[in-house]
Amino acid sequence: MLFTLPQKSRSLEGSTLTRKIISTGRGGTGKSTFVALALRYLRTPSLLVDLDPDSSLPSMIGVDLQREGKRTVCEALYDVVMRRKQNVTPTITTHDLMQSMLWSDALYEGKGFDLLTLGAKYVEGCYCAPDNLLRTTIQELVKNYAQLVVDSPAGVEHLNRNVVSDVDDLFVLCDPSLKALKHIQRVKHIVEQVGIQYRNFYLVANHQFDSTSESYLKQSGETYLGRIEYDPEVDNYNRQGWSLLDLPDDSPARLSVRNLLAMAGYS
Ligand SMILES: Nc1ncnc2c1ncn2[C@@H]1O[C@H](COP(=O)(O)OP(=O)(O)OP(=O)(O)O)[C@@H](O)[C@H]1O
Ligand SMILES: [Mg+2]
Repeated sequence: MLFTLPQKSRSLEGSTLTRKIISTGRGGTGKSTFVALALRYLRTPSLLVDLDPDSSLPSMIGVDLQREGKRTVCEALYDVVMRRKQNVTPTITTHDLMQSMLWSDALYEGKGFDLLTLGAKYVEGCYCAPDNLLRTTIQELVKNYAQLVVDSPAGVEHLNRNVVSDVDDLFVLCDPSLKALKHIQRVKHIVEQVGIQYRNFYLVANHQFDSTSESYLKQSGETYLGRIEYDPEVDNYNRQGWSLLDLPDDSPARLSVRNLLAMAGYS
């Protein structure tokens, strides 16, 4: 039936409690790479949400949204606005129309994971409308998944937008600079100000660290999980646009993400 919310039929392994994860950090620290590498070690199915308008996550996990005929949240929203202007389907509420389009047009269904991408706005103004749409849709959708995994854009602004407000694990990807320390404090401050509830606040050293520079994260007073190894193949795969899901099992970066997740209680 047109415009009723489709029932998802994902079956969960084991418990039905959804674990919610956010990968955040400064620009270029490896947030998306972390999400792509983590996917292999998370319980299935996962709902991935790419909040970065640049949308680099899909190609990192081998998804070509255009080829799949999928839209971003912003594109779906734009279509809804156009339909409203042209008075198409006037009997359905705007909210239901949006949700329906999001579920049918924007949700990519993959093997072991589904993906929603925010995309870039086409109209002037803030991200309030797409954020609200995502927030309510995620609340509904997430019950069908073992995990919700959010890949963030660079910086802290997305935290203000509060798309997901109750989080189990915040993974803060850090680079070896003094600015990174300030960034950690900013993330904590905003998360608390905005009222995002979280269970764990984890620091992760990115591939640019060595054992000497790691010491300042260890002394930060926050829970430090460990370092992701530099792996030239990760860089190579990203440059070639190959899926990081196809990295060999002995990839040092992949193994370090596995170990970090184990430290955080993912097995
Ligand atoms: N373990 C690693 N070994 C080698 N290179 C890496 C590793 N992790 C990430 N990189 C490289 O670092 C760069 C940034 O990675 P990525 O795009 O994941 O960062 P990001 O934080 O998501 O960036 P943005 O802020 O633009 O979203 C990429 O070129 C990627 O190939
Ligand atoms: Mg990214």
